[in-house]
Amino acid sequence: MFLSRALALLALFSLGNSERLVRFLATDGKEYYGDAILPSGTVDAAKSTSAKVVVGDILGDFKVTNQVKKIKKLLAPLPSERVRTVRMVGLNYVAHINETNSTIPQWPILFYKPWTSLNTPSDPIPVSPGYQNQTNFTSTMDYETELVVVIKKKAFNITDEEALDHVLGFTVGHDVSHRGWQIDRGGLPQPQFSMGKGADGWAPWGPAIVTTDIVPDPQVLNIWTKVNGVTMQNDTTANMIFGVAHLISFFSMGITLLPGDVIFTGTPKGVNLGKENPQWLTDGDVIEVGLENVGTCTNMLQYVN
Ligand SMILES: *[C@@H]1O[C@H](CO)[C@@H](O)[C@H](O)[C@H]1NC(C)=O
Ligand SMILES: *[C@@H]1O[C@H](CO)[C@@H](O)[C@H](O)[C@H]1NC(C)=O
Ligand SMILES: *[C@@H]1O[C@H](CO)[C@@H](O)[C@H](O)[C@H]1NC(C)=O
Ligand SMILES: *[C@@H]1O[C@H](CO)[C@@H](O)[C@H](O)[C@H]1NC(C)=O
Ligand SMILES: *[C@@H]1O[C@H](CO)[C@@H](O)[C@H](O)[C@H]1NC(C)=O
Ligand SMILES: *[C@@H]1O[C@H](CO)[C@@H](O)[C@H](O)[C@H]1NC(C)=O
Repeated sequence: MFLSRALALLALFSLGNSERLVRFLATDGKEYYGDAILPSGTVDAAKSTSAKVVVGDILGDFKVTNQVKKIKKLLAPLPSERVRTVRMVGLNYVAHINETNSTIPQWPILFYKPWTSLNTPSDPIPVSPGYQNQTNFTSTMDYETELVVVIKKKAFNITDEEALDHVLGFTVGHDVSHRGWQIDRGGLPQPQFSMGKGADGWAPWGPAIVTTDIVPDPQVLNIWTKVNGVTMQNDTTANMIFGVAHLISFFSMGITLLPGDVIFTGTPKGVNLGKENPQWLTDGDVIEVGLENVGTCTNMLQYVN
């Protein structure tokens, strides 16, 4: 009796440790967390049409059940209010530093986005009038693809070696940027990252948090951006100056990282800012940011009034 019950429980739950964690609106109209079921031939959860329902808290204890739900729409992997801090790293790839005529930082460059900037992996990126063309001020909208780290365990004063134990998994994010507000109106020589990058919806992320046993090494992944189907960035996370483990331990020297916090780890070369003839993003452009073995976010830039 006891044994058969235990077996039944085992059949119902597989212990969570190897997932592509998604949050989604199902065809039954309800919201769930899930482990994305991948269609054959892809590892991009953005293409998943169903998922196994996850019960519990993905930032704590959770289980993957055998209950399958159909996905109507993928949401951001966590609700914005559970992401208490959106940490951003600037200038973390040498070739990107080159293309922007910046100097290689000795220490990681940290700034923050407000959590109102978080967006789903598919919704439009709104551009309000203050960021659109004005008299003598061009809308210099740019893309930046980035590997994103999701923290699962509080981290304070930890070492590089301990850092990955505090990570739930990795996802891809888009650090949408307006260079005019970031640099030209940034109070040179200091850029002001938050005004140029922190607007509502300017940080799409997802489609899934891919756990660290699927991606044990975040420093070997192809990372890219396509604009209207054309590849604009295509690099490898091996080119980061400060790797994921060091970023976490470095920040933790005096700042507590909490479960649900995310860290966008900087963008590689290929941004508009570094081009002789930049094609600034405009209304209707569709931007895909992608990370190998993790997936893609595809969002349209949309002017709003
Ligand atoms: C950076 O630019 C310098 C000078 O143009 C060049 O020698 C170097 O190879 C570049 N480095 C990278 C990583 O692109
Ligand atoms: C970098 O410097 C070059 C050469 O002076 C210049 O053509 C280019 O516009 C500069 N790029 C940026 C992003 O400042
Ligand atoms: C905008 O540029 C035009 C033409 O170069 C110039 O006449 C005008 O004074 C400028 N306006 C402002 C607000 O700087
Ligand atoms: C914004 O101004 C730039 C520079 O004048 C121009 O190339 C671009 O087409 C304008 N964009 C829109 C949406 O009007
Ligand atoms: C930080 O960790 C080191 C050991 O790794 C320890 O000696 C030190 O007391 C810790 N500092 C704080 C503020 O916790
Ligand atoms: C990036 O470059 C690699 C190697 O050249 C190529 O196989 C891949 O298709 C490129 N990715 C994109 C998105 O263009």
